[in-house]
Amino acid sequence: MKVLGIETSCDETAAAVVEDGHRIISNVVASQIDIHARYGGIVPEVASRQHILTILPVIKQAMSEVAWQEIGGIAVTYGPGLAGSLLVGVNVAKAIALARSLPLTGVNHLEAHIYANWLDTASKRKGRARRNSEVRFPCLCLIVSGGHSDLVLMRGHGQFEKVGRTRDDAAGEAFDKAARILGLGYPGGPAIEQAASSGTPSVPLPRAWLKGSHDFSFSGLKTALWHLAHQGEIPVADAAASFQLAVVDVLVAKTVEAARKFKIEQILLSGGVASNKALRERFLADSPVPVLVPPPDLCTDNAAMVAACGYYHFQGGQTSGYDLDVVPSLSLG
Ligand code: KG4
Ligand code: ZN
Repeated sequence: MKVLGIETSCDETAAAVVEDGHRIISNVVASQIDIHARYGGIVPEVASRQHILTILPVIKQAMSEVAWQEIGGIAVTYGPGLAGSLLVGVNVAKAIALARSLPLTGVNHLEAHIYANWLDTASKRKGRARRNSEVRFPCLCLIVSGGHSDLVLMRGHGQFEKVGRTRDDAAGEAFDKAARILGLGYPGGPAIEQAASSGTPSVPLPRAWLKGSHDFSFSGLKTALWHLAHQGEIPVADAAASFQLAVVDVLVAKTVEAARKFKIEQILLSGGVASNKALRERFLADSPVPVLVPPPDLCTDNAAMVAACGYYHFQGGQTSGYDLDVVPSLSLG
């Protein structure tokens, strides 16, 4: 079964066709980063208008090698995200479903991030292609994106239990704010990673362990970095490397601790921050169980993950009606 996925929750307009929840037929992402970069962050009205301009050409491109008769269903992100952005994808998806008499399913963006781990990729590890059968339940999912840092136990398809979350800034948000403090570009994650590569993590920065809970907190770290930057004596590269190490230390140690407690089979990483090389390498080194992580371009927002997730919705009989509405504050588990 081929599913057309549509994603417009934030600042990427994306469409993809995925077969049987794992084989990517097409995957088109139109990023708005250049447009928002001049404002130092996402401007919701601009994002929404840009989605309207871009969505149809993006879907057309994703469908360029596929006949509409081959598509078995449409999956679209309906939350969480920016209301005006989500509305564009959801209404286009409903219109296509109605016009083509196709089943429709609304997908939680956070659930979709997790499903990036089902997509086939030529894995560098062991030199073989990763198959969807590699995921084993129960697994522990760390979703680290611009808006979320969630630890979610997954016992089966569609079965999620949130065991940890951020109490203040999300991990990606912390990277973005840290980059702003250090005068680096937007989005902050790749900018910090780049700066950190030529620095040494020599500056002591605080880590919020929040003992006895699986929650995260990054606002104290951000404030400490702010004070450090305003003292003005630390090279930016060293400050970036120290900040990145502090975030990686906490994300890895707390996830590994939860993995031991819940006796899970695997750890699944996802979300934009999971494209960070230092984070990926530390997880692979420190985890007592196998760690799955999508390639960087499937960690950041895309529609292939939405289509993969939608396939499992359809397999489980989970469809949406034409009254599907956006839920900007949707959570998972
Ligand atoms: O998942 P995503 O593309 O969009 C949301 O759903 O939010 O995540 C975007 C976030 C941004 O905050 C960005 O700074 C961060 O992911 N990010 C990174 C890296 N690439 C993107 N953070 C750390 N290192 C990276 N290489
Ligand atoms: Zn995302």
